[in-house]
Parts: sequence; structure tokens; C-alpha cells
Amino acid sequence: MREKNTFYITTPIYYPSGHMHIGHTYTTVAADTMARFKKMTGHQVYFLTGTDEHGQKIERSAQEAGIPPQQFVDGIVAQTKQLWDLMNIKYDDFIRTTDERHIQAVQRIFQKLYDQGDIYKDAYEGQYCVPCEAFWTASQLKEGNLCPDCSRPTELVREESYFLRMSKYQDWLIEHIETHPEFIQPPSRAKEMLQNFLKPGLQDLSISRTSFTWGVPVPFDPEHVIYVWIDALSNYITALGYTTENQDLMDTYWPADVQLVGKEITRFHTIYWPIILKALGLPLPKQIFAHGWLLFNEDKMSKSKGNVAYPGPVVKHYGADALRYYLMREMPFGADGNYTNQAMMTRVNSDLANDLGNLLSRTVAMIEKYFDGVIQAPGKYEQVDLDLIALLEALPQKVEEEMNALQFSQALSEIWKVIGASNRYIDLTEPWILGRSEEGKERLRTVLYVLAESLRFIGILIDPVMPSTPEKMFCQLGISDEGIQTWASLDRFGHTPAGQRVMKGEAIFPRIDIKADLPVLEAENEVEHQKSNPKAAEEEKAAKPAVPLIGIEDFQKIQLVTAKVLACEKVKKSDKLLQFRLKVGDEERTVLSGIAEHYEPETLIGRTLVLLANLPPRKIRGIESEGMLLSAASDDESTLRLLFVDEGVGDGAGIA
Ligand code: ME8
Ligand code: MG
Repeated sequence: MREKNTFYITTPIYYPSGHMHIGHTYTTVAADTMARFKKMTGHQVYFLTGTDEHGQKIERSAQEAGIPPQQFVDGIVAQTKQLWDLMNIKYDDFIRTTDERHIQAVQRIFQKLYDQGDIYKDAYEGQYCVPCEAFWTASQLKEGNLCPDCSRPTELVREESYFLRMSKYQDWLIEHIETHPEFIQPPSRAKEMLQNFLKPGLQDLSISRTSFTWGVPVPFDPEHVIYVWIDALSNYITALGYTTENQDLMDTYWPADVQLVGKEITRFHTIYWPIILKALGLPLPKQIFAHGWLLFNEDKMSKSKGNVAYPGPVVKHYGADALRYYLMREMPFGADGNYTNQAMMTRVNSDLANDLGNLLSRTVAMIEKYFDGVIQAPGKYEQVDLDLIALLEALPQKVEEEMNALQFSQALSEIWKVIGASNRYIDLTEPWILGRSEEGKERLRTVLYVLAESLRFIGILIDPVMPSTPEKMFCQLGISDEGIQTWASLDRFGHTPAGQRVMKGEAIFPRIDIKADLPVLEAENEVEHQKSNPKAAEEEKAAKPAVPLIGIEDFQKIQLVTAKVLACEKVKKSDKLLQFRLKVGDEERTVLSGIAEHYEPETLIGRTLVLLANLPPRKIRGIESEGMLLSAASDDESTLRLLFVDEGVGDGAGIA
């Protein structure tokens, strides 16, 4: 095969159903970082991102906003592009599934698959989750037909649909995954796909809908719109002009080198997507990398759930590079991690303000103080110099290895080890003592040269992650020659010319006053949330309503009675539930209550409790519960206390 020096990288195309948050920013920054790194190391790079604009979810969001879907997505796409500019994302193309070029190409793809027999028409029935755009089988659904992903109710949908023959490609795909261990990363995801989906057998995939109209029509059956996954996945090739006259981009860049996705869409990208490509006779991407989730209070952020952190406020206060650094550094690519503003600020202070910022400002200040701001030619190197030089010269290769494996956090950690070593070098060489004598000053020339050169290495290497910072560093170091700002100029230590004049500037990362800034950031995030997703914000408010006043007639609807505990025991295989046998006047009832963590069952026997008696019976764990026992909860709900009735009233007494 022709060895190509090209590099094609993609992000998922995001739903413009609400504004992009830190989760989308995470993937996009990772792709941008990788694109910049590959460019820097001499590759011809193409970086694609975009938006996935069709489907019922968008149609509904537009309806709620009271505007036509196209107008709705146009607004969010404009904001998305602004956000990517703010984050310093340099994509080569931004594809929208509402682009005419995409619509036409998708229709041609659909037609081709139909003509060659990979698509057929049938009927479909299943439980469907609108926010997640996913069908679930009975065994996948949570109790009460709730979506296993977002826990919302699913809808029963039955419709005529076109299907993609998947089973026919199953053995081929298993073989491909097993013989290409680099194809699905991290490897745990490959295992998961094989075990959970491929080995049990693939179902044909429903790929059209008649239940909504906001989509690309099936070219030969316009009652149907092409359902999101074929429409969405094809973006990676329609953006390259697939099916058009001009195949230059396809020829140059396909197959993609790396496609980044969040782990929740691994299945679509490692099963559906390869099968579509195989059916089209196209080679598969070299790698699908499924990264982990940024969690917000230990829960996945999601536009539809509204528990979200936005990049805007962070960037406004600390700059895009601080956020980019934090996102790429905090967690290994592939793993989940919690996002908190506090952790972000703590890391910015320690790694950027302290380690990097101080190294630069101390170095520049000393060159100004001892040598009128002019970098001196180094003298003979001593062991302590040679040790640091060796670390520097070994660094580019280490960084390259980690970056090629998309281990951003590791790559940064290697760089920060050398920053740490450079700061220690200052402690070891004690420039402030050297500066006191003529002899010491001779030695000091070398020490400060080594530090300046170290900062040049560091500036170049952090560029893909923090594209605005090197410029500021080079300006303070007086490096204007672009020839020594390149990857190639890391071939050896010593390219900084003597005689270069440094210029002290502002701190590149001022220390953050975490205590003072935290509430400010939180308030601004809330404003952002309101703007981004007025509906979700409204729903959250509605979820915590002010307590309304009720009339006595409302209260009279509630039948509260005293009930005496005849028997009480733990429900098997449940940590929370106690099962009560209650005497209520001349009636007996079984009631379940979720207080097993708060009471020993035998201590409750014989006591009199308050029962809400006119709830319809409900089956919990196969046991019918006839009513609800009242209890009080502490503020954080960590403690529950039953309501007991004092001596003197029997069971079955009314409460008012
Ligand atoms: O799934 N942590 O769009 P989407 C990490 N349109 N990454 C996150 C994240 C989080 N909390 N939240 C979002 C779709 N992401 C489809 C994709 S592709 C042909 C179609 C990132 O708007 C992550 O990359 O729900 C995830 O896969 C993607 O945004 C989902 O974006
Ligand atoms: Mg999603």
C-alpha cells in the first residue's frame, strides 16, 4: 500500500438540540490537538467536525422553541462555530447534515445500497427513546419501559421501515476486529462490541422512518426519511465529496486515520459504520477511538438532562489554553473523569501558574537582572546541565509516542516532568548565589542559557494543546526566528542564539483566587445554561416548585390512618425495602417501605405508624404494596424517620 503522509481525523457530528457544552468541547479539543500535532510533525492534515441536524429530537426542540427546524439549527450551528473559534479549534471543514452536498450524497448512498440489495423494506415495532434516538429491546429496557441510558419513558413505535442487512457482514466484521487490534481503541471497547453485539448475532438495522419528516427523504420512497445513523455516519465521507465528480479529497484522505467518538456511540461507529463502508466497497477507518465521559457531579453531562458545565465562563476568565490544558491533562483518554471548576482551577494554579509560569518568569527575570536581558553564550556544560539537556533531547520522541497513541495526558505529563526538572535545576544551580561573584557569573551564563533553551523546547511541545501560549513565551524569551519554533528545531539542544534579548511580560497564567472565583463561575455557568437551553432550565425550576396553597377539600382527598405493625421483615435481595404487615382497624395490609437502612425490622413490631391508605396498590419486586408509610427525611436525605403515633389511639384511626 502507498505510504501516505496524510492524516484525516474526525469528531462525531453533534446534535444541535442545545448548545455545545464541555463534553463536546472535550472531543473537539482532542481532535484539534491531534490535528495540530500531526501538522507540526509534518503531516498533511484534514480535520472534520460538524453537526447532525436531522431527526425527531431536533424537530421537537424546534417546535418547543416555536421556530422552523432549519432556523433552529442555524442558530445553534452559528453559536457552535463561535464556540470552536473561542476554543481555538482549527477545523478544515464543518459539515452540516442539512448541507445540500450532504443530502444529495446520502441519497446516492442509500440508492446504491438499495440497488445492490443491502437495503430492503419491512415493518418495525419497538420501544423507542426520543432523546437518545434509540430503540431498545425488552431485555435492555429498565422496569416500566424506561430507557436504560437516560431513564426516561420510551414510546412504542410501529412503522414501515427500510432495513440494512447487517447479519451478512457479521463474520467478516468479527474477523476484521480480531485481526486489527488497533481498529477499536481502547481494546476494552473491542471486547465489549464482540461480546455484547457481534457474537450474539446482529439484527438488521432499521434505517428509515415515517413518523417524522425532518430528515433526508428516501430518494425512491419520499414517505420515508433516512433515519439518523445512515444520514449521520456518512458525513465522514460526504464531506470528502464521496459520490460527486471530484474525488480528490476521498483519494487523499480516505480511509480516516482516527475517528474520535464518545464511548456511548462506539456501537454505531464500530459496527454500523464499518458495515456501511464495506457494503459501499470502501476501506475502513484505521482507528475508532472511543473516549470516556466527562461527568458532572458523577453523572454524564447531557444536553437533554441539563446537568451541564459550559466552556464560555472558564475561557472568559482564564483563556482557552487553560481549559484545553485541563481537559487534555486531567484524565487518561479513554477513561471517565469528573469535571469540576474547582479541580480545573487547582490544576491551572499548580501546573500553569506555578510550574510553567514561574519557570518562565524566573528565567526571564534573571536574564534581565544579571545580563541586561541578553541571553549569553553557554560555557562548558557540567553534569547537572547535561542531565537536563539529556531529558530535553529525549522528550520529543516520548511526546510523539504518547500523542500517536492519543495519550494526551501522558504526553503532557512527560512535558511537565521536564518542567519540574527545570525548576529543580534552578534550585540545584542556585543562580542567586552565582550572581554574587564574577566567577559565579561566568557559570550563570550557562545556567540561564540552559533554562532559556529548555523553555524553547517546552514552548514548542505544548503548542498542540495550548496554541496561544508558546507565542507569549517566545515573545518573553525574545525568540522571533520561526525556524527555531518548529518540531524540526527540536533535533538537538542549543538552537537558541546567544545575543537574543528577552523581554519580561505579564504572567502567562495569573494565579486564580479559587475561593473568590468559584461562585462567580457557577453563577455564570447558570446564566449560560439558561441561554443555551431555556427549556431545560425551565423544567429544572418546575421540578422544584414553590409549595402551593391548597384548599381543605384537597387535604380531604388524602386518607391518612393509624396502622399497627403486626410483622416486619427485610425484602430479600433488597438493601432498602422493609415489608410490613399492618393492622388497620379490622383490615390487614401489606406495605413496602424503603427504610431498611434506617430501622431494624423487629424494633418496629407493635408500634403504631401513619399510613397513606388511599394510594392505588403497586407491585414492587413482585409484592403488592397497599399504601405508603409516612416518614420524615433529613435535608440531605441521609436519614429517614418514621412517624409514630403516641399511646392512646388504636389502629385504623383517622388523621386530620
Ligand atoms: O451522539 N463527556 O451527538 P451528541 C465526553 N449526533 N464527551 C461528551 C460528553 C461528555 N459528557 N457529552 C458529549 C451524537 N460528548 C450524534 C453523533 S456521529 C456520526 C453522530 C461528546 O450531540 C462525545 O464525543 O449527543 C459524544 O460522543 C458526542 O459529544 C455526542 O454528541
Ligand atoms: Mg448523545
